[in-house]
Amino acid sequence: MSANSSKAAIHIAGTGSYLPERVLTNEELSKTVDTSDEWIVTRTGIRERRIAAEDEFTSHMATKAALKALEQAGLAAEDIQLIVVATVTPDTLTPATACHVQRNLGAHRAVAFDISAACSGFLYAMKVCKRMISDGAFENALIIGAEKLSSFLNWEDRTTCVLFGDGAGAAVLRRAQPGEGSIVATEIGTDGNLTRLIEMPGGGSACPITEKNAHLHLNAFTMQGKEVFKFAVTRMKEAAEKVIERAGWQADDIACVIPHQANLRIIDAIADRLAVPNERVFVNLHKYGNTSAAAVAIALDEAQRGGRFHRGDRIVLVVFGAGLTWAAAAVEW
Ligand code: ACO
Repeated sequence: MSANSSKAAIHIAGTGSYLPERVLTNEELSKTVDTSDEWIVTRTGIRERRIAAEDEFTSHMATKAALKALEQAGLAAEDIQLIVVATVTPDTLTPATACHVQRNLGAHRAVAFDISAACSGFLYAMKVCKRMISDGAFENALIIGAEKLSSFLNWEDRTTCVLFGDGAGAAVLRRAQPGEGSIVATEIGTDGNLTRLIEMPGGGSACPITEKNAHLHLNAFTMQGKEVFKFAVTRMKEAAEKVIERAGWQADDIACVIPHQANLRIIDAIADRLAVPNERVFVNLHKYGNTSAAAVAIALDEAQRGGRFHRGDRIVLVVFGAGLTWAAAAVEW
């Protein structure tokens, strides 16, 4: 560790994403649960979502997204020193999904572990890995948001099953070379008093899976949508403002805001409160729904590959999720 390594700038060297092939449209969903395309689009902006195959797990999607990020970064799997997977839908409670990914990639030098911060997990991973690289302990890191939410939904509950989808997104972090961009500022936060607002009550030590619990769908997501909505707008605005201020930027400087993809009305409210025009806010939730930890990672990859920002541009990522948790990052590309 060099004397000034704690001041080292950390750069996003590559991104990747993967979405399962199977598309589930609102129209199709409305044949099995009491809902309609009109209700879902008006309330959320979601038109369709992707559903992983039965034998396609969170780690498989994570691996596919990671391979694309590694390719763009020009790194081989064996060069990776750290793998962190953000997920609330791990392949197994233990071992960590990151261990499965390490094996799948053949990244035998990497330390691998998971982070559980729901939809905020990818930016939690970004902050943790940025620090682990900048303090000199690691040269690089592969951070991944990956979810197979379709395995943890009550498909008879219209208040949740219409909202979510499956997918994965990844990014490679490493020390910046001169002329490369950097992660300028990060912010993470938690309010454990609000754990009840989004929960998957069963499957842990508090409520082990039994036949009765499974029958009651206790291993599926539950959510107090309206309360979550208010919280999301307030906390995302505050988190984004903090990183913008710490970076010394103004709203006009920002080329692209990449928010958590949960609800178009939440995204519009954030854009409005940050005074960033809608055309500079990236949205893909109409195609994928809410993919929790994967959502902002997939959006970052699609925005980057789609030319929504370029080298030197300033971007802001901002998320919220169960916990309740929130996070933001200001990144110079
Ligand atoms: N189809 C048709 N009707 C529905 C559906 C549906 N899919 N879901 C609910 N309704 C009904 C309700 O039963 C209710 O009917 P009622 O008035 O007769 O009681 C009515 O629609 C209104 O329901 P609300 O819950 O008040 O609808 P709201 O406008 O609040 O929208 C929504 C609900 C979309 C969930 C919204 O509150 C929201 O997006 N909240 C934020 C949730 C979120 O983003 N969570 C992300 C975090 S998840 C994580 O971290 C893993």
